[in-house]
Amino acid sequence: MSLQPKAAVGAPLSRVDGRLKVTGGADYAADHDIEGVVHAVIVDASIGRGRITGIDTGAAEAQPGVLKVISHRNAPTLAYRDNPGSNNPPGGRRLRVFQDDQVLFHGQPVAVAVATTLEAAQHAASLVEVTYDAQTPSTDLSDDNAPTNTPVTYARGDAQAALAGADVRMEMTYRLARNHHNPMEPHATIARWDGDRLTVWDKTQWVIGGTQTELAAVFGIPPASVRVISPFVGGAFGSGLRTWPHVTVAALAARETGRPVKVVLSRRQQYFGTGFRPAYEYQVRLGSARNGRVSAMIHAIRSETSTYEPYGEGGILPVGQHLYSTPNVSQTYRTVRLDVNTPVPMRGPGFATASYAVESAMDELSYELGIDPIELRLRNEPETDPANGNSFSTRRLRECYTTGAREFGWDRRNPKPRSTRDGDWLIGTGMATGVYHTLRAPAQARIRLDADGTALVESATSDMGPGTYTSMSQVAADALGLPMRRVTFRLGDSLMPNAPLHGGSLTMASVGSAVLGGGDQVRRQAIELAVGDEQSPLYGVPADTVVVRNGRLHVRDDPARGETYQQLLTRNNRDSLEVVGSFTPAQSRFTTEAYAAVFAEVAVDARLGLVRVRRMLGVYDAGRIVSPKLADSQALGGLVGGIGQALLEHTVTDHRDGRIVNANLADYLVPVNADIPDLKAIYLESEDMEADPLGVKGIGEVVLVGVAPAIANAVHHATGRRVRDLPITADALL
Ligand code: MOS
Repeated sequence: MSLQPKAAVGAPLSRVDGRLKVTGGADYAADHDIEGVVHAVIVDASIGRGRITGIDTGAAEAQPGVLKVISHRNAPTLAYRDNPGSNNPPGGRRLRVFQDDQVLFHGQPVAVAVATTLEAAQHAASLVEVTYDAQTPSTDLSDDNAPTNTPVTYARGDAQAALAGADVRMEMTYRLARNHHNPMEPHATIARWDGDRLTVWDKTQWVIGGTQTELAAVFGIPPASVRVISPFVGGAFGSGLRTWPHVTVAALAARETGRPVKVVLSRRQQYFGTGFRPAYEYQVRLGSARNGRVSAMIHAIRSETSTYEPYGEGGILPVGQHLYSTPNVSQTYRTVRLDVNTPVPMRGPGFATASYAVESAMDELSYELGIDPIELRLRNEPETDPANGNSFSTRRLRECYTTGAREFGWDRRNPKPRSTRDGDWLIGTGMATGVYHTLRAPAQARIRLDADGTALVESATSDMGPGTYTSMSQVAADALGLPMRRVTFRLGDSLMPNAPLHGGSLTMASVGSAVLGGGDQVRRQAIELAVGDEQSPLYGVPADTVVVRNGRLHVRDDPARGETYQQLLTRNNRDSLEVVGSFTPAQSRFTTEAYAAVFAEVAVDARLGLVRVRRMLGVYDAGRIVSPKLADSQALGGLVGGIGQALLEHTVTDHRDGRIVNANLADYLVPVNADIPDLKAIYLESEDMEADPLGVKGIGEVVLVGVAPAIANAVHHATGRRVRDLPITADALL
């Protein structure tokens, strides 16, 4: 993009699909109007572990409108081929829908009622009588007798010896509740068979590598026989990264009834029909010199997974490995096999959890040593990646701290806990660091420049909310030299060029780079066509001196000499120029991560235990910001999500039977407008050209990382009380 002027990239544009979304014109999974569609309602297990001894479907089947009730007793055997490329955890045996009588967790699908109306299906599902041989499930992470999978370990130096020799030794255990994503749009799938070809309209973050390949594996058909359509996703935060049992249920029910079938999970069913951020116990032992140089960190980590799949979070260890320069680090991470369904990444997976533990521990150390929390971090800031000696491509955490401290007014703070009051309220401020690795994956995008001077860009990626339609249009517009209004970006169809999962903050780096590369190629093709065309005013001009602006090719230093794409293509009898842009990540010698410094001010009513966040600031080193307005939506949304994680969100399980007690949005608390104060995001202006051709490092995940510990640290500063469990609820402060 060197020669091309940047007009759209970096501009604070509104969403190109905004009008569609607010007028109901955007079709989410369940909105698609499929002729002849019937409805399926899943019956879920009412025990936490055991065996189905009987299913009586007579009353259900006798209801008017009921087409079929399917369970393990009459379901066909499904292929369930291995699908290692998808998001299925390695080494597991994924849940096989209606394939046997085993119940592995409370809420597992045990039958489905299919009927011509939703009401008939709901009523029929309620009439299915299931009897069980029930056992007491094991669902409590703190149960030390629960079996664990082979631990993941990491070590550098000699952490035990360094800890033993340290001036200051500390040991803390932090606990994080299970969280659920709770996107606004419920998970939903419509499935239709045309002969042996399957079409699904699905809520997914991974059209091809996820839903398409997994349904092909489950049904034992070629991936090309499965078409997945998913143009809009109403939030997901990671819940759309796997192909959950209800997707299979929809396809199975459609095949068994010969009708298109729609399945929409109820809000309650989301809590066990999809995954969740697993509960964690995170023990930190720290050794430090009096001057604040941390010499040893020992982490013992446990998180929950299912009995049938060993889901672990790779992101849990890096925070301890290279956020600080600590020479001696030892980590042990165990996943605990419980009678629950399998977790899945949720925003900032692993990193957000680890940062709560590590950043709380650093805060505790700062008070122990009497060193300002920012100063303590600066004293442990590495020059190179301490895990492997690599250089950081860009790492501007120091600037995040200093910019944040200045903007937030950190120096006005009385460092003494419980020292600041505002009437009945105790006031505290806290900060924490966020980090998330920059992931990149192969991606493709088709760019077609039409003779009318408009462009169509397609890639089978998703938009769960970050604004993919808009940001990709910006990249394409600048690469092609077109105004935004002449570019259309389409996504969410497995017939489009391949794209990686829409998650892990990798969409702009990966799909964006494919769009950029493809757009550059098309523009160059047009320029070559012009400079070789005797009838073009650009004939004979060196190609590298030609730029395209507003759809017009011209000599860079002589804007009068040129012509439009329309003129060029029409005269040459070309309907279009088309390229499939392809991005393959390069091997990098660098460690590339996005960083955040997060600041929070809270007010705590000590008599009521009430915590109110008063203001928050995030300062981000995330590389180039393609779309500042959309980045703000991400950053402020991350702060909101972190307020939820810190103070509200907690999936509660009844360990007697494995039932989730608060499987609804009345009892599972998420922040509402009244919980959200003044929020501000600042981006350090930068581009990281080692990261990817666009210079972006990813923004969607890092914005959640560091938020909860900043709030927890502020609560400690306000009250002098250190709560080591999330969420921090009123009872813990009384
Ligand atoms: Mo993100 S947790 O990869 O949706």
